[in-house]
Amino acid sequence: MANTHQTNNELKQAIIDSKLRHIAFIMDGNGRWAQKQNKPREYGHKHGTETFKRVIEHCHDLGIKCVTVYAFSTENWKRPKKEVDSIMKLLETYLDEKYPDEACVKFIGDMTPLSDKLKKKIKKAERETEGRPLRVNIALNYGSRSEITNACNLLIQEGKTFVSEEDISSHLYTSGSPELDLIVRTGGDIRISNFLLWQAAYAEFYFTDTLWPDLTDNDINEAVASFCSRKRRFGGLDTEKSKSSNGVEQ
Ligand code: IPE
Ligand code: IPE
Ligand code: MG
Repeated sequence: MANTHQTNNELKQAIIDSKLRHIAFIMDGNGRWAQKQNKPREYGHKHGTETFKRVIEHCHDLGIKCVTVYAFSTENWKRPKKEVDSIMKLLETYLDEKYPDEACVKFIGDMTPLSDKLKKKIKKAERETEGRPLRVNIALNYGSRSEITNACNLLIQEGKTFVSEEDISSHLYTSGSPELDLIVRTGGDIRISNFLLWQAAYAEFYFTDTLWPDLTDNDINEAVASFCSRKRRFGGLDTEKSKSSNGVEQ
């Protein structure tokens, strides 16, 4: 078997060949991970933050250009106040720490209901990390339906009476990020939970039973290798070079 170094280089080449630029993670399973150890759910969220940092480092090492993570959904407010408060507190703490050097942090979602303190820290983090090579979108109070609705309302405010797909894409929170290539969901559930519905139109999906705090670099390599082995046809045909119906070489 090839050593890890070789395997990593091969994987990096496969990533370049398959043009994998943007991975999104549904970071699920923190609560169950903690409960399995008879610990409160908050303990799982804390460990989940550590996984997040490792994942960012590893994705950067692999040459990925953009990572989007689902940190808190518009539906997660339904959870007990104690848990919600602890997640917000963790975010505050995270924002006080040093972010991974390579990360250009951008929060996506509706920040309106967040505390002023958190909003200030978010702005500061975005400002301080601007221009760094790896774009990291952190989805917070994020819901895809709300994001699309917000885009439509912005367009109405701009006076549009007719909109194109490009208009909608450019008014989503993810505007400026590369096209979404791969969604990885940990925690065993096979659903999208109101995440990146528009952006996922042609994304590949990878589901694993591994709980988020247990996710290793090797698990990410497996997800990425799976992506690289797939044929993305985007509605066309498999052939390497085929002519489309309008005669243009694809
Ligand atoms: C994901 O883990 C993190 C958030 C939704 C904030 P969960 O908290 O959903 O963990 P499980 O799915 O209950 O194990
Ligand atoms: C999705 O996980 C949201 C985040 C990971 C932040 P949930 O645990 O909230 O999803 P459901 O409720 O199982 O669909
Ligand atoms: Mg969950």
